[in-house]
Amino acid sequence: MGSFSRILFISLTVCSVVVANFSVSSEARAFFVFGDSLVDNGNNNYLATTARADSPPYGIDYPSHRPTGRFSNGLNIPDIISEQLGTEPTLPYLSPELEGRKLLVGANFASAGIGILNDTGIQFFNIIRITKQLKYFEQYQQRLSTLTGPDQTTRLVNEALVLITLGGNDFVNNYYLVPYSPRSREFSLPDYVRYLISEYKKILGRLYELGARQVLVTGTGPMGCVPATLAQRSRDGNCDPELQRAADLFNPQMIQIINELNSEIGTTVFTAVNARRMHMDFISNPQQYGFVTSKVACCGQGPYNGIGLCTVASNLCPNRDLYAFWDPYHPSEKANRIIVSQFMTGSSEYMNPVNLSTLLAMGERT
Ligand SMILES: *[C@@H]1O[C@H](CO)[C@@H](O)[C@H](O)[C@H]1NC(C)=O
Ligand SMILES: *[C@@H]1O[C@H](CO)[C@@H](O)[C@H](O)[C@H]1NC(C)=O
Ligand SMILES: *[C@@H]1O[C@H](CO)[C@@H](O)[C@H](O)[C@H]1NC(C)=O
Repeated sequence: MGSFSRILFISLTVCSVVVANFSVSSEARAFFVFGDSLVDNGNNNYLATTARADSPPYGIDYPSHRPTGRFSNGLNIPDIISEQLGTEPTLPYLSPELEGRKLLVGANFASAGIGILNDTGIQFFNIIRITKQLKYFEQYQQRLSTLTGPDQTTRLVNEALVLITLGGNDFVNNYYLVPYSPRSREFSLPDYVRYLISEYKKILGRLYELGARQVLVTGTGPMGCVPATLAQRSRDGNCDPELQRAADLFNPQMIQIINELNSEIGTTVFTAVNARRMHMDFISNPQQYGFVTSKVACCGQGPYNGIGLCTVASNLCPNRDLYAFWDPYHPSEKANRIIVSQFMTGSSEYMNPVNLSTLLAMGERT
């Protein structure tokens, strides 16, 4: 082989490897995540914000045993969904590692502290509000497009699984943050919920415009029952009725906008995830799920370990698998596994209209 043809041969080989590397493989299903701390894989580590989980004991049960920015002792809900998809966990969008073929796995745009409304989480300063997360999703698609071309990018996004988790902070870190908060003076609870829902519908519509076609939308969990709420508002250890009422108002209206959007589009793009119900199972009967308690957080201080943040100075339970709540607001990895198993195989009371195993089977390419 002459030196010119040798060079040509080598460059052709290099080219085909590059192409092979960036073609959207037939097995991979990308995964995109939007929302708040329940699903943030570490974006806030890259931001000047107080909403962060970047110091021990966060991550104590993560494979690296180090904090990663996840609000969990170990894996969070998106990580466990990634396991089910057979893919690597999604990287935070702001991670410098998210480049090249790693873009094919998807991306996590979530940011702890945010809500449906722009004014939710203002106390945390620099966080990625939902409209910014959607802008980043557009930017991601432009970046992927330079590697795979626009058609492959559109295909990858259309076939991807998408998870969006919003709403909890609009209550706990806005409406109920302080007595007589601006939003609670502006709106009665039912009017506030209607406003949130109308804004949520716009966000979901935008996600569809950006190419999302298989979207799991979680409602709010049982906010009245988390250790933080028990510590602040409960005298007897029972769930706070006011915050439960907020979730009871929010969730059915969320299902309603999902049904509306699906019928406007003419097909099932959005699936409602009943996060309240999934949590209530183990909150009502912790022992049945192998927990010693669902009231006391593993990591924290004060009543129910529900006051302040989880830090190195906090009480820390020795066996995290025995606690439904890792910190005052966030489930333990063990609880996250129970939740994701309901995503996978739950009845229509948990996943509406279909569960994730059915959804993934329907989307399987022939
Ligand atoms: C793909 O890219 C990686 C580096 O990113 C390289 O090690 C590998 O050989 C490439 N080719 C294939 C076909 O995997
Ligand atoms: C939130 O902020 C974005 C960007 O500044 C803006 O486009 C959007 O209309 C705002 N939403 C509301 C409900 O004010
Ligand atoms: C949920 O998943 C299970 C197991 O894959 C399946 O048998 C069941 O029919 C599904 N239910 C719904 C409502 O999709």
